[in-house]
Parts: sequence; C-alpha cells; structure tokens
Amino acid sequence: MLDRLTQQPPDALLALIKLYDADPRADKIDLGVGVYRTGQGDTPVFGAIKAAEAKLVAEQDSKAYLGPEGDMGFVHALMPYIFSDDPTRGGRIDGMQTPGGTGAVRLAAALAQRAGIARVFMGTPSWPNHAQILADLGLELVTFQHANADGSADLEALKAALSGAGEGDAVLLHGCCHNPTGIDYTPAQWDEIAAMLGNSDVLPIIDLAYQGLGEGLEEDAYGARAVIAAVPEALIAYSCDKNFGLYRDRVGALYVFAKDGEELGRVLSNGHALARAAWSMPPDHGAAAVRLVLEDKATTAQWLDELDQMRTRIRQVREALGQAGTAGALDLTPYARQQGMFAMLPLSKEQIQALREDHAVYMAGSGRINVAGLTLGNLPKFIAALAAVTA
Ligand code: LMR
Repeated sequence: MLDRLTQQPPDALLALIKLYDADPRADKIDLGVGVYRTGQGDTPVFGAIKAAEAKLVAEQDSKAYLGPEGDMGFVHALMPYIFSDDPTRGGRIDGMQTPGGTGAVRLAAALAQRAGIARVFMGTPSWPNHAQILADLGLELVTFQHANADGSADLEALKAALSGAGEGDAVLLHGCCHNPTGIDYTPAQWDEIAAMLGNSDVLPIIDLAYQGLGEGLEEDAYGARAVIAAVPEALIAYSCDKNFGLYRDRVGALYVFAKDGEELGRVLSNGHALARAAWSMPPDHGAAAVRLVLEDKATTAQWLDELDQMRTRIRQVREALGQAGTAGALDLTPYARQQGMFAMLPLSKEQIQALREDHAVYMAGSGRINVAGLTLGNLPKFIAALAAVTA
C-alpha cells in the first residue's frame, strides 16, 4: 500500500538550511530561511526569554495536560499588543495557542473551511507554505498580484479580485512585513481594504507573523485593527517565532473576532475540535516563557528593547542597501523603503545558483533574501557577488 506514495522533494526553503550548513567556505552568507541575525551573524535566544525560562524551570510544578487551547494566559497576555487597549472588543475576540504561526494559519484555514469557505483569495508572491496549506486542505486558491513594478503594494489588483468575491470566500492578507516582498499596504490602503471588506461577505484571514519588525509594534498592527474595526468577523493567525525569537519552540496563536460572545464560543469550540484531531495540544514551553515575559514589567521592558534593536538593525541594513545604490544591473534603492525581514531580488534561477555555487551566497529559489542575514561586514561581498552575476 505505502509503495503507492511517490517521492516528494524536501521543502525547498528548509533544504537550504542543510545546504548552507554543509558549505565549508568561511565567508558564506545565509540569506535563506527567515531567522533574525545580529550584526555578528548570530541568532541568540532573547535575554527576556532566557530570564523567563530560568523562572519556568525553577517554578513550574507540573507538566500535566492543559487542553487543546494551550496556555490561555499566554493567549491573553499578547492581546493588548495586537488589539490595543480594548483587546476583546467587548467580548468579541478570544483565541487559542497553536504550534507556531504555521499552526495558526492551518487552523484558520481549516476553521474557515468548516464554516463553508471554499475559495481563498491571496496576493502573490506569498510565503510558499500558504499555498501548500490551502492545497492540502482542498481549498481553492485565487491569486492576484501583490505588488506593482514600482515597489508599491497593488491595491487595484486586490480590489479587482475581491470585486468578484462574496459569501464562501476568504482573503488571506499579510498583516505586516510582507513575506517575501517586504512591500506592505500603507495605512491609507489598509483603510480602503477595510472599507471594502466591510461592504462584502468575504472573510478576512490576517497572517501577523512579524509584529514589531517593520515600523513598530503599534504601527505593524494597523492593518489588522483597521480590518477588525470594519468587518463583522475575522481570523488572525499570530506568530511569536520572530518577535520572541522562539522559532523551533513553535509558538503561535489563532484569534477569532466574532459577531458576539455566543458566536465566539462556538467558533473556538470548532478550533478546539480541529486542534484535538490534528495535534491534540500545542507544545507548552515557549508559550509559557512568553507569558512569563509579559507578566513581569522588567522582562517586558527587556523584550521591547530587544525587539527595538532587531528592528533598528534591519532598518540599518536596508538603509545601507539603499545607499549602495546599485549592484551591477540591480537597483537596490527600493529595499530601503520596504519593511521587515524579506526582500525579493529580480534574479534568474541561473543567477541564484551562481550566487550559491560561485559566491557562497544562499537565498530562496524565488530570489527572496532574508535582509537580517546581511551585516555591515558581509554587505560589500554580497553587493560584489550580485554585480558579478548580473554583469
Ligand atoms: C520563512 O519564510 O523563512 C519563515 O517563515 C520560516 C518558514 O517556516 O518558512
């Protein structure tokens, strides 16, 4: 029976991690998978998380099961940062813990499907796993162009796509720090999107995986808050992988904005049932550490400071790219204006391969780079390699 299964290629992005690790060249540059790196090229555990983990080890007195919803103290502690000073919108928002942002997106899509959603609209390019998750669930994907050639977000394409959408449809939007383009909707564009969704029956699903890495925690929540203010219902998939540096611990949450408290309870009961049938309960450790960080003023301040440092460094690298101006045929100036960890370089497959093989520069096959993999130290080599392959 099992011999019916055909060999599947490894996930292209995750396979890059192994390729990079196996490369013996000392000056190799990893711009592949989205992990933050310091100016020294490290991905350290946040100091605030280390402090919380020490407390967790000392004080946690049981590892007995919690339930499919996970650590609700964690889920609630994040809410003021995401939804601001009325975090439940009068009892209309609550959530549940998920295994990472991927678990949250998967659960959002499965929940939407249970509610009768058959088609999901999404701007492309997008994070490759979005399409994989939708395909795995059997949801139809309808795509539209995310960005214009001039480096702005293509609001007209979104409007045109959604003008044909209605009941039974959802739209999957990146809340901030668009992955892979780094091109976000402006606040004015979010206002238009929110108004349009408010006048339609399309269910918004917002993937908020990089809050705090773009303009700031508040600014990066603008889109999600604008949409919630305009629509009757929405799903928000949240990740702490990047903004708490918890990648492998798999820390995320799904938030539901429902018509009222009664609907909210019903929707979440379906979320709990789906979780029970998929992973039963989310892993506890990372979420418990986030909760402990946020329950304490000193570690909260430390986390905010560490997040500020990440955002500032990403911004510095972007500015340095912009100041470099060009690399061979490539115009680097748009990257200074974009947001978050990622940018797309218009390179051919052959150029991306030459960068890897001849220059030890690793990036996704789509031409996406993780800007945080660049440092003021390796930037000259990167620019020289780009110039060489685009000459
Ligand atoms: C990325 O896009 O690099 C990250 O979100 C990691 C992942 O799971 O793909």
